[in-house]
Amino acid sequence: MDIILFGPPGAGKGTQAQKLSQKYGIPQISTGDILRANVKDGTPLGLEAKKYMDAGELVPDDVLIGIIKDRLLQPDCANGFLLDGYPRTVPQADALTGILDEINKPIDVVINIVVPNDILVERLSGRWMSGCGASYHTVFNPPKAEGICDTCGDKLFQRPDDTSEAVSNRLDVYQNQTAPLIGYYNEKGLLKDIDGTRDIDVVFADIDKIVASFK
Ligand code: AP5
Ligand code: MG
Repeated sequence: MDIILFGPPGAGKGTQAQKLSQKYGIPQISTGDILRANVKDGTPLGLEAKKYMDAGELVPDDVLIGIIKDRLLQPDCANGFLLDGYPRTVPQADALTGILDEINKPIDVVINIVVPNDILVERLSGRWMSGCGASYHTVFNPPKAEGICDTCGDKLFQRPDDTSEAVSNRLDVYQNQTAPLIGYYNEKGLLKDIDGTRDIDVVFADIDKIVASFK
């Protein structure tokens, strides 16, 4: 099952990808997580990416296309993958089609998690992250012990791009550069809309029904 989880910042792509990855044993490929790991390690890629990320801008396409190509060719993707946060522009989507054509692994479905802006802002302002990729919310999805990750026990932190200024820019960037992919994948007959405003487990049950049909 080769799946794209699509949606604006805060829609729940990471939350749902992590649950699907646990259930089906296929990797969650979050380009945001890959970039943040590079920032943390101070790699040349991380140093370049940080200025874009902190401002809520997209990192240039050629950088992302290189990252995703390397990642999709790793052996753990042989039985499927969950793309979380890629593609975000038409050139990225075209490059993905080219890469997947070469390895004969087409995308099965694009799950578009639909959530209005006011709820997105509320979610991002209350989000706390763990180094293992798990994401929590002070109200909607609190950890069992305050400030500590249920999964790995690490201390939780807030993302530098969850400030109100960066969030506002991320929502604009999504609208201008990423939302056109809804039409792009709809024309290919791959798009499935999911109402992402409901409880995490209710959203998951709906997504799971779609994903299970590609097992
Ligand atoms: P990235 O890390 O991908 O961030 P994003 O797309 O802005 O999305 P988020 O991770 O903020 O939201 P999410 O949909 O994963 O929501 P989550 O599950 O955490 O990218 C960051 C940056 O990296 C970009 O701005 C860019 O600079 C760069 N980048 C990455 N990929 C790139 C690419 N392809 N091209 C160029 N640049 C790229 O949920 C959010 C919160 O809501 C959490 O607190 C969660 O607990 C809560 N929540 C989730 N679901 C629900 C629910 N159903 N009900 C209530 N609360 C919920
Ligand atoms: Mg995410």
